[in-house]
Amino acid sequence: MADENGWIDIGAAETLSRVPLQTVTVSGRALALSFVDGRFGAVSNLCNHVGGPLGLGRLDGDYVVCPWHGWKFHRCAGQGEPGYEGDRVPAYPVRVENGRVLIHIADGTKRARAPHDPHPLARKVERADGPLRLAGISTTAMEAANPRFSGSDHLLGHALAAARARGAQTRLIRLNDLSFRACEGFYSKSAQACTWPCSITQMDSADQMDQVYDALVHWADAVIVATPIRWGSASSLYFKMAERLNRVQNAITIRNQVLIRNKVASFVIVGGQDNIQAVAGQMLGFFAELGFLFPQFPYIAHSRGWSHEDMENNVEIVRKSKELAEGAAELAQRTLELAAKLIAEDCAPAAIERGGRKAHAIEGER
Ligand code: FES
Repeated sequence: MADENGWIDIGAAETLSRVPLQTVTVSGRALALSFVDGRFGAVSNLCNHVGGPLGLGRLDGDYVVCPWHGWKFHRCAGQGEPGYEGDRVPAYPVRVENGRVLIHIADGTKRARAPHDPHPLARKVERADGPLRLAGISTTAMEAANPRFSGSDHLLGHALAAARARGAQTRLIRLNDLSFRACEGFYSKSAQACTWPCSITQMDSADQMDQVYDALVHWADAVIVATPIRWGSASSLYFKMAERLNRVQNAITIRNQVLIRNKVASFVIVGGQDNIQAVAGQMLGFFAELGFLFPQFPYIAHSRGWSHEDMENNVEIVRKSKELAEGAAELAQRTLELAAKLIAEDCAPAAIERGGRKAHAIEGER
């Protein structure tokens, strides 16, 4: 409770000074309380960016570093680090009297937010007019300076050529050519710390995963993802991309915002090893969670299997096979036909009933 001058006793200075940065609640308000060089500081616990808990961050000199994405605020005055002073979190007067720490909540400064240009990916998701658009995503890894024949890329090429032949626009993205960081687990800090656009994309302009986000969320009506089989699974680059795409699914989890609407996905899976059905199952399950729909028979695949891991023959079979090339062309056709129907009907939900969906607690649960 505040004294007659508005000061609130929050505890013994001896105890509170043992922790350099902590969260305290004063009059129902969460504050980041710091103690550096014999001086207490108190600012709002709520970061200006997307609400990260400053008291759980760390100190960099006299700045509190937000644990979510690293924005910094002066621990006593609340202003952003040099160059970003226009962003301020509320700061509160603190004093020590008779060994007690006192805070004046009513005299706190005001929050101020400097204008920040939104990231281009944050624009409204709406289909631009024009012909059907098919993105091909190659997930095979290979030596850039000495490329080799890839069966999955080869069939993806046939699929994209067939799409162009029927008037569609195509865009090929080779993950092997992109420089992008692995998902660094912002979601593991908090679902809210995993932002749209992706936290890494917003913080690191050199990260090229934005090309995949732009193609899948904004540009394409359909996507064909091609992968080799590596130890019975899709490629490591596929999984690196899939982890970064978690944010597209997370938009549904935390905002019930369906970013992928009226879009179709299909797959090309080629391996010297077996396990096509498991690879297809994983990819179908993941892309279904993102909001994609699938044509009838949503993948084509080829594998020599356990007893025939003779890669040079496998490569030649794929390279020469008219049947597989035609299969890839027909996959593109099925994919685009369904995309055209979905666009015409435009009945995909923009939000969904949350019961039974990922990360939704149901009645009676705590
Ligand atoms: S930096 Fe604080 S919430 Fe993002």
